[in-house]
Amino acid sequence: MLRTSIGAIGLACVISLISSGALAETAIERGDYLVNTIMACGNCHSPRDAKGVIVAEKALSGGLTFDTPAFLATAPNITPDKQTGIGAWTDQEIKRALIEGIRPDHGKLAGAPLAAIMPANFYKALLPDDLAAIIAYLRTVKPVRHEVAPPVYRLPVRREPYPDAEAGFTGAMMTDPVKHGAYLATIGHCMECHAAWSKGVHNYTTGLGKGGRAFPLREGAPDSPTSIAANITSDPTEGIGAWSDAEIARAITHGISRDGHALKPPMAFGFYAGLKDPDLKDIIAYLRTVPPLD
Ligand code: HEC
Ligand code: HEC
Repeated sequence: MLRTSIGAIGLACVISLISSGALAETAIERGDYLVNTIMACGNCHSPRDAKGVIVAEKALSGGLTFDTPAFLATAPNITPDKQTGIGAWTDQEIKRALIEGIRPDHGKLAGAPLAAIMPANFYKALLPDDLAAIIAYLRTVKPVRHEVAPPVYRLPVRREPYPDAEAGFTGAMMTDPVKHGAYLATIGHCMECHAAWSKGVHNYTTGLGKGGRAFPLREGAPDSPTSIAANITSDPTEGIGAWSDAEIARAITHGISRDGHALKPPMAFGFYAGLKDPDLKDIIAYLRTVPPLD
């Protein structure tokens, strides 16, 4: 009798712990979630096999090479390997690379800015706890020894300010679905691909969500066929304004467009597939507020 009642009390405690959020995720779990879903670091930083599939056991050990008029740069090894990765970097040095796009003040290219393809102008928006969580997680990744080719800079690095990242976010904003969605869309750098773009310059003020930018299907193979970033504004005919939430969610997480056709790379559908439903809902709530453009 005594036993059953203790059992019942124990169960009640567990239930109340869950509902009070006392079993909330740890910093490492939060970092894992951000890196491997919305921020999709591995979409650039992980190596791929001949079919273009990410090699999971070498995750984050160096990935795509971007060859542009401004730079030739390979996404480096960001595993904790001390020689070829970022294992010897301090937390402060990793933070600065992420949110300011600047290398450590020692070693090769000391203090030099990273090529603008590393989306530090978006990561500037990271809340301090999320930034710390990403670093905590990166320290737990399996170290892989792999050195990537050094970058070649052809033009001075020009990082374009992204208005929502410049304005910044606060923890208090995260309870507002649209602001939380805007935060996730910012750290997911959605608009880097989906904003109006001309001759290497983004229009982040009046061109948000307009689409139109062409991407090679295979990075480093400029002659490969391209995919064109879609209009994701709330425009009902040109954009996604008339789509249901379920249709938008399916496009983001499964790469299936409204009419059922498969969407092409480089959008990180496989990463976004891991997004939690409430987060996906908030991203969609934000997209519904992006002014219509045709
Ligand atoms: C769109 C592709 C892309 C995405 C997404 C991306 N990076 Fe990068 N990152 C790069 C490239 C390319 C470089 C190298 C730039 C250079 O050499 O100038 C880089 C550089 C870095 C560096 C500096 C490493 C070094 O050895 O110099 C760190 C640290 C880093 N990225 C971490 C991250 C993390 C963490 C994420 C996800 C939160 C991320 N990156 C997302 C492309 C990307
Ligand atoms: C690396 C570039 C890139 C990033 C980052 C990116 N996208 Fe895309 N996205 C594309 C391209 C290119 C297409 C069109 C693919 C095609 O037509 O085959 C697309 C298609 C879409 C579609 C389908 C629209 C349609 O008409 O079929 C939606 C919705 C979408 N993206 C939303 C997002 C959201 C939300 C984010 C951020 C979480 C995001 N994208 C990040 C490049 C990107």
